[in-house]
Amino acid sequence: MEDTTKLNTSKLGTKQYWDDFYAVEKSNFEENPEDTGECWFDDSNAEDKMIEFLTDHVGELLVAKDASMIDLGTGNGHLLFQLCDEGFEGKMVGVDYSEKSVEFAREILRANYSDLSNLEFLAADIFDSKWESPKYDIILDKGTLDAIALSGLKSSNGETIVEAYPKVVDKLMKKDSVFLITSCNFTEAELKKMIETDSLVAWETIKYPGFKFGGHEGSTICSVAFVKR
Ligand SMILES: C[S@@+](CC[C@H](N)C(=O)[O-])C[C@H]1O[C@@H](n2cnc3c(N)ncnc32)[C@H](O)[C@@H]1O
Repeated sequence: MEDTTKLNTSKLGTKQYWDDFYAVEKSNFEENPEDTGECWFDDSNAEDKMIEFLTDHVGELLVAKDASMIDLGTGNGHLLFQLCDEGFEGKMVGVDYSEKSVEFAREILRANYSDLSNLEFLAADIFDSKWESPKYDIILDKGTLDAIALSGLKSSNGETIVEAYPKVVDKLMKKDSVFLITSCNFTEAELKKMIETDSLVAWETIKYPGFKFGGHEGSTICSVAFVKR
């Protein structure tokens, strides 16, 4: 059977694409402070669903209002800003390899959330072996693995970047940390196949409205939470 976890490459998998993308978003924001940029998967309400999921699970595993969080490939940081708006108050870090995205997210932070001292944005490639990070209670990914999968890059030991990804995530986790990922390129089954290991196991799935086609049921987007045992 065809391995559907291997996608074709695309310009969405390049840093140049994201630098150009966020340079435009940043300049739009500078012209119009109401315009904080694209909210990925907005039409599926993914951000609200992810935050609702975390809110509903406060008190379970390491999910708490003061949980520390890292958002991988944070873009404009919208997910973290929304989490702050919803009363999450732990240490939060948004990391992205596009310096333009980090400049943009920092600009929004200064302009609209200057009272927040728990939130910061860092420029780093999460696959860079020199990137050192503490561990977090909650790890977030909204659309980042989707972009990474389109890069077609291999790491120095010959692994595809998609194969390397769960190890990057695992290193950021401690016992009972939660990894919550939302994807539009991979199904729930594919995400589980790619990410599950002996120590990183699927915990819960967020339900989205589905569709039926040719006798098959599907959804255009999925979010899966994994827990580190
Ligand atoms: C589809 S966008 C999603 C952005 C954001 N999570 C959101 O929901 O709006 C993918 C993001 O992943 C970032 N990214 C891709 N590869 C990365 C890497 N190796 N390290 C860090 N960030 C990366 C891109 O710069 C981009 O901001």
